[in-house]
Amino acid sequence: MSDKLLLDFRSDTVTKPDAPMRKAMYEAEVGDDVYGEDATINQLEAQGADLLGKQAGLFVSSGTQANLIAILTHAGRGDEYITGDHYHSYFYEAGGAAALGSVVPCTLPVNEHGQINKADMLAAIKPDDSHHPISRLLCLENTVNGQVQPADHLTDLCDTAHQNGLSTHLDGARLMNAAIASQQPAAHISKGCDSVSLCLSKGLGAPAGSLLCGSDEFIRKARRWRKMLGGGMRQAGVLAAAGQYALFHNVERLKEDHDNARQLADKLGAIDGVDINLQQVDTNMIYMYLPADKVADLPAYLRVKNIIISPAKKGFRLVLHKDIPASEIDRLAVGVHAYMAA
Ligand SMILES: Cc1ncc(COP(=O)(O)O)c(C=O)c1O
Repeated sequence: MSDKLLLDFRSDTVTKPDAPMRKAMYEAEVGDDVYGEDATINQLEAQGADLLGKQAGLFVSSGTQANLIAILTHAGRGDEYITGDHYHSYFYEAGGAAALGSVVPCTLPVNEHGQINKADMLAAIKPDDSHHPISRLLCLENTVNGQVQPADHLTDLCDTAHQNGLSTHLDGARLMNAAIASQQPAAHISKGCDSVSLCLSKGLGAPAGSLLCGSDEFIRKARRWRKMLGGGMRQAGVLAAAGQYALFHNVERLKEDHDNARQLADKLGAIDGVDINLQQVDTNMIYMYLPADKVADLPAYLRVKNIIISPAKKGFRLVLHKDIPASEIDRLAVGVHAYMAA
């Protein structure tokens, strides 16, 4: 353990492409993807569709773009999408679906596990009445704040949505974390969803890119939205190669991040005054709560120890990823211990 390595716990999005991933990018076969001629992208899209159990895939620039394209493809002007009140597709995507597609969000509270309640969802679906927006889409998420959403729960919500005439989308930015933690194939977890997105640039370690998967017909329409949103990239096979490398080499290793999160959570939870909800630590995220007068100064205190955490109003979110090796996680526990004792 040395303080030389910068430990950045803000997010798994901070992971950097390593040498073998960069080599794969360097060697990627490329072409103009808007003409459908980028062999690496074509391959990655097919691999993504296979992994997620859908007919077709689309390589897009980001998780936000994947969700936006999905919502715009499923729903139109004056339609509504039902989602969790803190799910990313509503709370952290700048209102894109409403601003760019006039799709109205209908948000529901989620429970302490990040789950939407089925009765709440049913109550939110509007009758066919000219006063209401048309309930068109259910938008789910997995993981939610690092918490795995059980496959049965998601499938039940999706089945109920379908019975009521809605389509379903899963924001699976961290779906592979859920798959590894629950030891279930990603395709099984997302089987009830008409479309599913997966980020390659979070724990999987690629520098950019997400996959959006669904039926052939859905992806055909989604491709048009991607173009309209300015997301038709050209020789982006260099990025797709990083995504392919991530899917081959970085999925199984997510377990290390989950193990590190669990170990670190235990250590932090043992410090006087530090509150950790261990039940919440399913994958690579920990939420850490301190007494109110201790919250403001912790990030600056740790920064001089070469540790970055995001500032917090209440709970600090700590995210484990491949650029924080197991050998270094004690540095955060030692730092928080010293801070609390000071
Ligand atoms: C659950 C979830 N969905 C979507 C996104 C959006 O991904 P991007 O930052 O690639 O737009 C994020 C980003 O952190 C996320 O956490």
